[in-house]
Amino acid sequence: MILPKHVAIIMDGNGRWGIQKKKSRNYGHSKGIKVVENIIEEAVSKKIKYLTLFTFSTENWKRPKSEIRFLISILEKYIQKELNNLIKKKIKLKIIGNLDKFPKSLKLKLRNAEKLTRLNKKIQIIIALNYGSKEEIINTVKKLNNSSISINEKNISDNLYTKNIPDPEILIRTGNRNRLSNFLLWQLSYTEIYFVSKLWPDFTRKDFSKIINNFSKVKRNFGGIK
Ligand code: IPE
Ligand code: IPE
Ligand code: MG
Repeated sequence: MILPKHVAIIMDGNGRWGIQKKKSRNYGHSKGIKVVENIIEEAVSKKIKYLTLFTFSTENWKRPKSEIRFLISILEKYIQKELNNLIKKKIKLKIIGNLDKFPKSLKLKLRNAEKLTRLNKKIQIIIALNYGSKEEIINTVKKLNNSSISINEKNISDNLYTKNIPDPEILIRTGNRNRLSNFLLWQLSYTEIYFVSKLWPDFTRKDFSKIINNFSKVKRNFGGIK
């Protein structure tokens, strides 16, 4: 069985789930964060080495302040609560995206968690926060240009947030929307994409596992003939 090394997920549909349950969008976000814990466990049991989670995009600042504040607060609580577990379970945490726009307290907690888990080898959880792929590519090209490093495929890959991380073999997007929403545009060039109609809070370990099993049957050509 061919297992993917890297799975990326666009965890979409929390807000609609909350409304469907006749509660608030924020209620959906609270449920969504619990699902993350299950999927991390399943990824570990499938021996996946990198799991990237799209958590907040550069475009999500367009949302109402109250929703943004709620997302920041549950994230901060989550990292505070889970840090010891991450250490115990040998999970490495990495953040991609620009953290400068978030409150200092959240930024410090995240950087501290990265530092304390940096040597862990079980799995790397990559949280995309205030992440936008176009911004990432522009910053990378500017950086190469300013340092007169030649602009080629390898040098661009080696200067993205995801340097040293293999491109995802699988992208999953829940929430019945068939788009990428500015996520990992460079890194997903040859990724197998699975659009799932379930909303993120309804996504289960079994759903995840089925996708991983299906992937092992996919013939990947990378432009050639096999
Ligand atoms: C979660 O889903 C993704 C985040 C930006 C946190 P949404 O909040 O986009 O939920 P829907 O798509 O509006 O249902
Ligand atoms: C993508 O979902 C961003 C995250 C899951 C963090 P959105 O809900 O922001 O995407 P659009 O606006 O429907 O494209
Ligand atoms: Mg959405």
